[in-house]
Amino acid sequence: MMQRSSIWLSLSLAKRGDRVTQLCRVLRTAIEKGQLLAGERLPSSRQLANDLGCSRTTVESAYQRLTTQGYMTRLLGQGSFVAQHQQPRPLPSYQGLPLTLSSRGQALVAQRQCLDPQTIQPFSAGVPDVKAFPLKQWADVTREVMENLSPEQLLYGDPQGLAECRKAISHYLTLSRQVNCTPSQIIMMNSSQQGLQWLAHLLLEEGDTILTEALCYQGAVNAFRQAGAILAPQPLDNEGALPPTQPAKLAYLTPGHQYPLGMTMSESRRQQWLEWAVRHQSWIIEDDYDGEYHYGKDSPPSLQRLDRTQKVIYLGTFSKTLFPGIRLAYMVVPPFLVPQLVNARQRLDSHTAVLSQAVVARFISEGYFASHLRLMKKLYAARRHLLLELLEECPAGTVRVFPSEGGLQLAIEYLKGDTSAITAAASRKGVVLTELAPLCLTSPPVNGWIIGFAALSPYVIRQAVTLLNEVLFHVASLNCSDKI
Ligand SMILES: Cc1ncc(COP(=O)(O)O)c(C=O)c1O
Repeated sequence: MMQRSSIWLSLSLAKRGDRVTQLCRVLRTAIEKGQLLAGERLPSSRQLANDLGCSRTTVESAYQRLTTQGYMTRLLGQGSFVAQHQQPRPLPSYQGLPLTLSSRGQALVAQRQCLDPQTIQPFSAGVPDVKAFPLKQWADVTREVMENLSPEQLLYGDPQGLAECRKAISHYLTLSRQVNCTPSQIIMMNSSQQGLQWLAHLLLEEGDTILTEALCYQGAVNAFRQAGAILAPQPLDNEGALPPTQPAKLAYLTPGHQYPLGMTMSESRRQQWLEWAVRHQSWIIEDDYDGEYHYGKDSPPSLQRLDRTQKVIYLGTFSKTLFPGIRLAYMVVPPFLVPQLVNARQRLDSHTAVLSQAVVARFISEGYFASHLRLMKKLYAARRHLLLELLEECPAGTVRVFPSEGGLQLAIEYLKGDTSAITAAASRKGVVLTELAPLCLTSPPVNGWIIGFAALSPYVIRQAVTLLNEVLFHVASLNCSDKI
């Protein structure tokens, strides 16, 4: 009885807004939580309207909506009841041998555990500051787009991507990343990760060799290994990946900011890679995942800009420039590849969600994207500067920052050997240190971590470096006493 009166009470307290929706929400929640039981009689619409001080039409509309949704049944001359089938049935017991994943699936899930993507801790890597995202502008643009939707936009979309979105992206890439492209070369995707998997699937035969950088983005490694490719990692120096000496079908590079170390590939290195691609009739995938965030004088232009023979496939994502939850990315492909890739796209998963493309197109063309990027670049540059200053105070001889001029994170090397004790101790203090070693495809592995800063306030950065220093001191003193 107590429970029921609290249901009606919570309903009568909500005085503003659409009362039908409110009534539906309260009743639905009560049914789902088991506060109203299957088969239980509900008050007549007249009685409930009286109790709540609202019109009978309101209660009738709510009852009708809940009946259509399957939460209620109404029996002529008998009344209104909570529907019988709302209680979840117990699962049937499992019969037979347990099903196992394929060997590909098992290899994938055997990797180290993923971090909780919903929790941003210091120094979570690779995430933009979503608190600084202009949600009000985004909501206005979304509303405008939704109000002007045509019925055709509700159909299956163009497998290549919404024309106005490709046009806006092409304009933006030409101006700010100096990518050499037209809208007809752009193919929209749900993520760079999807692009990598898709390119691996469509361009590589099992057993083909793919050149990667010696430390490499795990998502790319997964995509290529799952396609049965053989990875041939190339050593890195401060100009990026060393020029290749062996032929291969494909190379995967991050020339803007090497992932994870952060160096920018030099112009001469870029030329050497392009010459290699011509010599061996190879493809280069340029993953420009965060090229926008460069804090030197000018952002280095894309590798694709220097490509005179259509060997480069350029990948970009909105995960860092807008927000990761949007799941929207794009690739720029040589014109002769477009029809085959678009054809394959249609067969594989049809297309990318039309509505988010429509919103992004308008967000870019109205200038909100450019001004958001300008603000974020300033914000992240200041945070990076602060982090670099603070890292100078780390105990002498313990860490070295890998030189870089951009990105949402820094890579630091631990100069005292194995990182696992520091990583574990930092984690107990709430500081996430993403290890470099699992990203190393050659040995010996690099000891160190990726340190994300973009999503952290100056206060959090200060606190986290203090904690990191405490851990470095503590572990160093333990090691000394071991030796004594
Ligand atoms: C090198 C690199 N490429 C691609 C991506 C992922 O982009 P998306 O979210 O579009 O899959 C990331 C994400 O951190 C990355 O670090």
